[in-house]
Amino acid sequence: MAQLNFGGVTENVVTREEFPLSKAQQVLKNETVAVIGYGVQGPGQALNQKENGINVIVGQRKNSKSWEKAIRDGFVPGETLFEIEEALQIGTIICYLLSDAAQIKMWPTVKKHLTKGKALYFSHGFGITFNEQTGIIPPKDVDVFLVAPKGSGTSLRRMFLQGRGLNSSYAIYQDATGKAFDRVVALGIAIGSGYLFETDFKKEVYSDLTGERGTLMGAIQGIFAAQYEVLRAKGHTPSEAFNETVEELTQSLMPLVAENGMDWMYANCSTTAQRGALDWWKKFRDVTKPVFTELYESVAAGKESQRSIDSNSQADYREKLEEELKALRESELWQAGKTVRSLRPENQKADDTAAQKDSKTAELLKKMVGNPESVG
Ligand SMILES: NC(=O)c1ccc[n+]([C@@H]2O[C@H](COP(=O)([O-])OP(=O)(O)OC[C@H]3O[C@@H](n4cnc5c(N)ncnc54)[C@H](OP(=O)(O)O)[C@@H]3O)[C@@H](O)[C@H]2O)c1
Repeated sequence: MAQLNFGGVTENVVTREEFPLSKAQQVLKNETVAVIGYGVQGPGQALNQKENGINVIVGQRKNSKSWEKAIRDGFVPGETLFEIEEALQIGTIICYLLSDAAQIKMWPTVKKHLTKGKALYFSHGFGITFNEQTGIIPPKDVDVFLVAPKGSGTSLRRMFLQGRGLNSSYAIYQDATGKAFDRVVALGIAIGSGYLFETDFKKEVYSDLTGERGTLMGAIQGIFAAQYEVLRAKGHTPSEAFNETVEELTQSLMPLVAENGMDWMYANCSTTAQRGALDWWKKFRDVTKPVFTELYESVAAGKESQRSIDSNSQADYREKLEEELKALRESELWQAGKTVRSLRPENQKADDTAAQKDSKTAELLKKMVGNPESVG
């Protein structure tokens, strides 16, 4: 295993050089990998493995869009596509990629088919770490591990097709066969990971839940809203407020940060912006740090997992979710964003009438550019 220096801390990582695809194929040559669930992660992981020469089948409930999608993607009913229980029976490695809530529901069925020597694979530490809440307690004579791609299943697939690789973490919870390390790393390589870094189930889920509630999704929307509201309250137009809050960040600055780091981005902006950013970032850190600590503690206390289990298992979950998303979508900030997106030159030809068709957007557009008819 390679040891790499991450900002002064040495960590174990597995790279494709030391564990090439040929080795993964060798490790998995006698296995049947059953990907259970064909939602977001399922397609990316199943297709990448299939194209990497792994013997993979899909288990998915019938009469659903996901079943149809699996067929469109080339899985054949009765040959490589089965009802969940049948796939569980056939598979020697069970990739449990149902939604986290569905994993709890289906667990008694899965457990029944986890016979000695099989492996149970997750892409999240949730079910095992919070097993008092989920009831997911695997038998002792199976391997249990995870590979968690650090991104969406869609990105995993896209990057695979582009010849790139998303990085993933891996963890072993139970090594019953003595082969858990080879099995998990082989799977990690086969699903298209660029490299794999080591973690454990608890750390994976704590960091993941913190990240998505924090800077990746929750905190970022909170900061967007706060700055946008201040700019609007001080008399700035929606277009100005949106551009200075979101558009410039996503379109111009973040790709540069992704490529070169924050110091490079600071070094390559105006001296005025540079001075201000250097003066203000620590204030934002200090103000938000207590909130991040509260968030982490809520995750570690099992409150976030319980809340997610409770809300996701309600019958009207999807309707309630849609109401909340609608509120976000219809907020002035994101309506302004819709118009701003439609004004991007690359979107104008394909979608040149979209802004005018939508009366709310047109209203905003009027406020922003004066005459909506001039757009497109
Ligand atoms: N989303 C991501 O990109 C991502 C990233 C990293 C890790 N993960 C992890 O990967 C795992 C899978 O996540 P995901 O986002 O791919 O899940 P998802 O898209 O929500 O998965 C939906 C799958 O679960 C099935 N399902 C839902 N309810 C069911 C039920 N009651 N009975 C049987 N099947 C049911 C769906 O079938 P139908 O279509 O028939 O409803 C579909 O196959 C999770 O552990 C997640 O934390 C996800």
